[in-house]
Amino acid sequence: MTTVTTSKPIINLTGVSKSFGATQVLREINLDVRSGEVLVLIGASGSGKSTVLRIMSGLETADTGEVWVNEVPLHDARRAKDIRGHVGMVFQQFNLFPHKSALGNVTLALIKARKMNAADARKRAMDALDRVGLADRAEHYPSQLSGGQQQRVAIARALAVEPGIMFFDEATSALDPELVGEVTEVMRGLARDGMTMVVVTHEMGFARKTADRVVFMDKGVIAEQGAPEQIFVDPRNERTRQFLHRVLDH
Ligand SMILES: Nc1ncnc2c1ncn2[C@@H]1O[C@H](COP(=O)(O)OP(=O)(O)O)[C@@H](O)[C@H]1O
Ligand SMILES: [Mg+2]
Repeated sequence: MTTVTTSKPIINLTGVSKSFGATQVLREINLDVRSGEVLVLIGASGSGKSTVLRIMSGLETADTGEVWVNEVPLHDARRAKDIRGHVGMVFQQFNLFPHKSALGNVTLALIKARKMNAADARKRAMDALDRVGLADRAEHYPSQLSGGQQQRVAIARALAVEPGIMFFDEATSALDPELVGEVTEVMRGLARDGMTMVVVTHEMGFARKTADRVVFMDKGVIAEQGAPEQIFVDPRNERTRQFLHRVLDH
């Protein structure tokens, strides 16, 4: 949905492989993400999507290959920490502190990650909550919020540090179906605002409408990638066809 043809890659993976014990989960992955691009990763469970995200966000180190994110060489394990605070991550589980309000959760992240003083952090946190449509719920505790609202707080917490890139790993998978839309709507808003996003999701509607590019992973390799209209209307790889047939039929 954004025009991303000329900007240089903000993420570059070259020849990235990764094994856990005897199991090779990524094989020679090559992937670029450009500034402002929305990249959606799809594929069966176990195909390696989360591992790609974790490597891009410095939570996991590749065995071989090069990983550049925001000009930080993450293949150098000593540099992995340099990317923290420059990327935001949103997971299936919201992981909010139950004894802190929505505002308290976001503020705490800022005080820890940005070493901000409490007053500045509070102001920044309110802006982030406003961005996800929850300014009026700032004083609510997680138990007083719906799952969709809790996930929006988690998005606000990630946004508050003003990351250059946002990663979403099945951010809507734990939600009741009727709560998915409010979260994907917030994600769409970020995409419209030009945020660089890498999104793992089973929401094919989101992929189709919001992705600039869809990557289909199969058994640790990128089996196919392309514009959503190509992947969903005219998939070239038989495995992509089968996968989409399975997920779109349900
Ligand atoms: N920390 C880990 N230790 C051992 N195996 C792992 C670990 N993380 C992922 N795996 C394995 O790697 C494969 C790919 O996992 P993952 O990247 O989570 O796939 P996806 O997100 O596509 O479901 C799976 O077989 C999974 O069991
Ligand atoms: Mg996963």
